[in-house]
Amino acid sequence: MDLEYFSDEEYHRAFIDFGGVREEIARLLFHSLGMNTEIILDIPAGHGYLSFEVAKRFKQSRVLGIGLPNDCTAYLRIRNQNKFSPFYDRVDFTACDATRLALPAGSCDLIVNFLGLEDIRMTRGETGVLQTLSEFARVLRGGAILELTIAEYGDTPEEEIAKSVWESIGLNAVFQPINFYSDKLNELDFKLTKKRKMLYPKKMKANQAREEIEFACLNAPKIYKSFGVNSVSFDEIWSEFGSLIETHGMAYWSKLWVLIFQKV
Ligand SMILES: C[S@@+](CC[C@H](N)C(=O)[O-])C[C@H]1O[C@@H](n2cnc3c(N)ncnc32)[C@H](O)[C@@H]1O
Repeated sequence: MDLEYFSDEEYHRAFIDFGGVREEIARLLFHSLGMNTEIILDIPAGHGYLSFEVAKRFKQSRVLGIGLPNDCTAYLRIRNQNKFSPFYDRVDFTACDATRLALPAGSCDLIVNFLGLEDIRMTRGETGVLQTLSEFARVLRGGAILELTIAEYGDTPEEEIAKSVWESIGLNAVFQPINFYSDKLNELDFKLTKKRKMLYPKKMKANQAREEIEFACLNAPKIYKSFGVNSVSFDEIWSEFGSLIETHGMAYWSKLWVLIFQKV
């Protein structure tokens, strides 16, 4: 796969726009499920970009974004910017750790997820990721749907660089292979019903990768201090990978897998 460099303008909107992938996921879910979906959870919701896409498609549903308290301000700011959108009052946010959802068993029809299991690994470790999947199983009713979006590390030089950088940075925010998630979900009585590859064939230039890595090294340990999250210094990462990044760029989310499971 040939990956193109982001322009600086594209890079600054890269995570927000994501090449329209969230919109495509919402469309795929809507075509698979139709309208009979009352309560949708978006976990972990981050700034809520998937919540909003899903609310636009599922016009009868309520969408609840779930994340940590530090996500609340950004989520509600973006929701409130959309005050005049038809989905505005059907979308809300609750601060709650994904490993212990404050919701009754069997209370939801659909859980959507766009990345973030790597962040749960950062804050709660591998055990936390497994607890999160068990919580998904608990709060979904029988027959309900779980959608996961997982990044797969590719094998071009720029993708391998991204994998090595994220493995070396010390935050523990890395995805595991797809089987790790699907094996656990099989144990929890989920059946994989759809698996779709979605590509975002873009890579960061050196100045953009520098900004990304600096942000991760400086801010993640501050934001997630209460979880004991640590990273190595930016200089350490840049001295190891800087010249490789100058040559090849860095591509972190170029290949995504969208997995749709049904709770048996
Ligand atoms: C990559 S973002 C999610 C992106 C989002 N789904 C989207 O569509 O843009 C990951 C989020 O997970 C949150 N997070 C990390 N650990 C968590 C936990 N234990 N429980 C809930 N949320 C968590 C972080 O605060 C962060 O906002």
